[in-house]
Amino acid sequence: MSMLQQLEQAEHQALSELRDVRDLEALRAWKSTYLGKSGPIAEVSRSLGRLSPEERPRVGQRINAVKQQLQQAYDELEQRLIAAARARELEQDRVDVSLPGRPVVAGRLHLLTQTQREIERIFGQMGFTVWESREVELDEYNFGLLNFPPDHPARDLQDTFFVATPPDAPPVVLRTHTSPGQIHAMRRFAPEPVRVILPGKCYRNEQVTVRSEMQFSQVEGLAVGQNITMADLKGTLAAFAQQMFGAEAAIRFRPSYFPFTEPSVEVDVRCFLCGGQGCRLCKGSGWLEILGAGMVHPTVLRNGGYDPAQFSGFAFGMGIERMAMLKYGIDDIRWFLSGDLRFLEQF
Ligand code: DAH
Repeated sequence: MSMLQQLEQAEHQALSELRDVRDLEALRAWKSTYLGKSGPIAEVSRSLGRLSPEERPRVGQRINAVKQQLQQAYDELEQRLIAAARARELEQDRVDVSLPGRPVVAGRLHLLTQTQREIERIFGQMGFTVWESREVELDEYNFGLLNFPPDHPARDLQDTFFVATPPDAPPVVLRTHTSPGQIHAMRRFAPEPVRVILPGKCYRNEQVTVRSEMQFSQVEGLAVGQNITMADLKGTLAAFAQQMFGAEAAIRFRPSYFPFTEPSVEVDVRCFLCGGQGCRLCKGSGWLEILGAGMVHPTVLRNGGYDPAQFSGFAFGMGIERMAMLKYGIDDIRWFLSGDLRFLEQF
């Protein structure tokens, strides 16, 4: 076989094999077979020296032409295969922008926080400042300065959590109500007038039931100044009840007893479920108890640094859980600290 025939055959074979090449890997293998150092064209090139000087240029030109043609075929197919591979990748990674997104689970404020903030907003509009007081409290502030007699049953170990202290140190308790904040606020502001609400956690050593938890939350209110009367208390609480429970909400005062107020009252709101007719919620009475209140006892005013001959004040205290339970019809106080998302996500 002449060298030209060899070239012819190599070219023919290479081009025919190229038609079956389907991927880049096979293409590279094809290139090294036909255009590589041990391929048929290289072999012909190596024997060029055996030809006569007349023949050499013709064969040389032919070699170059074949090489060029194969290289060109290679380049073209390489381009096409690369483009096809890219198209396949794009097809696989296709993003369907019309698919609905996955919802982001957003957190939310706990119902107690929501309710506390609503109470703060309502009293804030009436000129009350939010003031926070300590949860670990001197027994003296929690009871004594609030005019609890030394043998009052609330001071009993059965109702109060005492904090371990050295025998000669004054007794310390977890506050059983937010009322000790009244003394702190008065001592901070006297003899200036004061108008604050004091929200926070309280603790009582109680049997946990549908109605009572060992940890609960209250909002205390206190206003001290000159010429403050029971009518101010009533107007303030009526305005609160209307904003909290709706424009129809009416309140009533019932006489009661607390050591730190005189007179003391319990405040009811007209049952918003039955409108006062009497139902299961209000147990037929038409009224729901919402808080305790009264005029600050002269002894407490004095303990706070005010002269009761010149100053008077009112105070009130409400349970945040109770407010939320009434408002949303929650029947078990234990839901609040249960951590149960099925409950919490409803609010
Ligand atoms: N401290 C009382 C309690 O925990 C609630 C209370 C009643 C607060 C009357 C007051 C008040 O400020 O005037 O039961």
